[in-house]
Amino acid sequence: MPYDAKHGTSVKLRSQLWFDNPDDPDMTALYIERYMNWGLTREELQSGRPLIGIAQSGSDLAPCNRHHLVLAERVREGIREAGGIAFEFPVHPIQETGRRPTAALDRNLAYLGLVETLFGYPIDGVVLTTGCDKTTPSQLMAAATVNIPAIALSVGPMLNGWYRGVRTGSGTIKWLAKKLKAADEIGWAEYYELVASSAPSPGFCNTMGTATTMNSLAEALGMMLPGCAAIPAPHKERAQIAYLTGRRIVEMVREDLKPADIMTRAAFENAIVVNSAIGGSTNAPIHLVAIARHLGIELTNDDWERIGHAVPLLLDMQPAGRFLGEDFHRAGGVPAIVAELIEGGLLPHPGATTANGRTIGENCAGRRSWDREVIRAHDEPILAEAGFLNLKGNLFGSAIMKTSVISAAFRERYLSDPGDPDAFEGRAVVFDGREDYHARINDPELAIDERTILVMRGAGPVGYPGGAEVVNMQPPDALLKKGIMELPCIGDGRQSGTSGSPSILNAAPEAAIGGGLALLRTGDRIRIDLKTREANVLVPDEELAARRRALDETLAHGGPGYVPPSQTPWQEIQRQLVTQFDEGMVLKPAVKYRD
Ligand code: FES
Ligand code: MG
Repeated sequence: MPYDAKHGTSVKLRSQLWFDNPDDPDMTALYIERYMNWGLTREELQSGRPLIGIAQSGSDLAPCNRHHLVLAERVREGIREAGGIAFEFPVHPIQETGRRPTAALDRNLAYLGLVETLFGYPIDGVVLTTGCDKTTPSQLMAAATVNIPAIALSVGPMLNGWYRGVRTGSGTIKWLAKKLKAADEIGWAEYYELVASSAPSPGFCNTMGTATTMNSLAEALGMMLPGCAAIPAPHKERAQIAYLTGRRIVEMVREDLKPADIMTRAAFENAIVVNSAIGGSTNAPIHLVAIARHLGIELTNDDWERIGHAVPLLLDMQPAGRFLGEDFHRAGGVPAIVAELIEGGLLPHPGATTANGRTIGENCAGRRSWDREVIRAHDEPILAEAGFLNLKGNLFGSAIMKTSVISAAFRERYLSDPGDPDAFEGRAVVFDGREDYHARINDPELAIDERTILVMRGAGPVGYPGGAEVVNMQPPDALLKKGIMELPCIGDGRQSGTSGSPSILNAAPEAAIGGGLALLRTGDRIRIDLKTREANVLVPDEELAARRRALDETLAHGGPGYVPPSQTPWQEIQRQLVTQFDEGMVLKPAVKYRD
């Protein structure tokens, strides 16, 4: 709230409403006395210096972001040197792998908490400490709602993992370990050792999972200093950029450069293109749509397809490729990707403003890749069309498909018409949630073979509160032993960004609220046409209508549906208020609050 001539307030900074408000000296006294009790002086609090929040997302419970506890010292030094005063405070922890039942449940909770903190305390600008998957979108969403100057600081990925001379990546190594274990090639001790080898240092997942994706997109949106997303957590450049970020946020307050000035429609379109070029996670559409909604920008899965589908894959990083976080950074990180996109005429808006006050084009143009194996030239991509398709049909209104992981083997096994390379067909085997999948996947009665499509329902924002990352279904052990390592999956849940199987994800509306997947039965045939962007169950409309009536009947008589009981108050609240994945899984009443 800088000086506001219209309302005639005489304060220039928002924090002065608390600490130096000549219109209300009585309350000022009350506010300053407590903030002086640990050593701040009245002179400091009333000096007109910007008070800068450091939204601390690291903790012992949040190991991916824990290094922010160390980095915050350098942020503070930057803030102080630029003339600001740092106020560090905790944000609700979100840890992807440790949080039960699912970390996604906490994205909106952390968002709410941060909105209240930023709104209710004397903070002029904020450093968002991002990292693990949902810690990035939750904080950007809050910054969007409150719209005070904000800049994001990535904690950076872990160093590369190694095992017996081979790179081991976060998440991706788990799929391999599972397969080796299922095929009896390793025991549990080696399983643990193999998986742990992928996490050799502080930092977030070193693969192109949701963490690297969302930090890269925060940078592409303009909300970070250039190069900030990819610097590994332990590198000296990481602490250096923490310091520079602290300095810069003070200037941003003085310039009154706010999230809504940076995260414009143009910035989102740039981010969608960058997401394709880096082979980003299928969770990205959910989170970007959510951030956009909180800014009042209509972003849809159709936008994702229209803007992002035809963009080439430039980054060779697991799970789509071979390399890991250190390699991405050494090759030039996000600026090198953006430079390639600019050179190829593929970045839609090089003139978009970023946190350092310059445009993304000014920041990145010419910062070419240092390693052409890791980041390819725009005209020698790994894959021509790396973005998502937005599929529709009688099973759902919208679902995301990452076509970059469709293998030749898949194309061969599921081809529907010999003359049409884009039409696939398979027999559905349906599971009601994760537990059902684990209980029955090896049941021979399901007759799962190499032309089966595995379907998971009951895993959306309402069915599995927050939307579970469980549509990564492994084939049964019998198929793994035959060398069939992947089957296509369809689900109303999400998939880990580190998974590599061809899947149709984030289906909306979900089965729990009566979406088409609720009508599907094991044995039905599903046809996917990539050309028409359709996915349909090949069951006559009359039969589907009859199934719909039967389902409505069950639900009307208190049948179980697909919504298990909530375990906590927040699960119940979120279930009542949340939108579907294609609308960002945001809280319905929250999106109208801006500034
Ligand atoms: Fe936290 Fe991957 S689990 S970054
Ligand atoms: Mg994940």
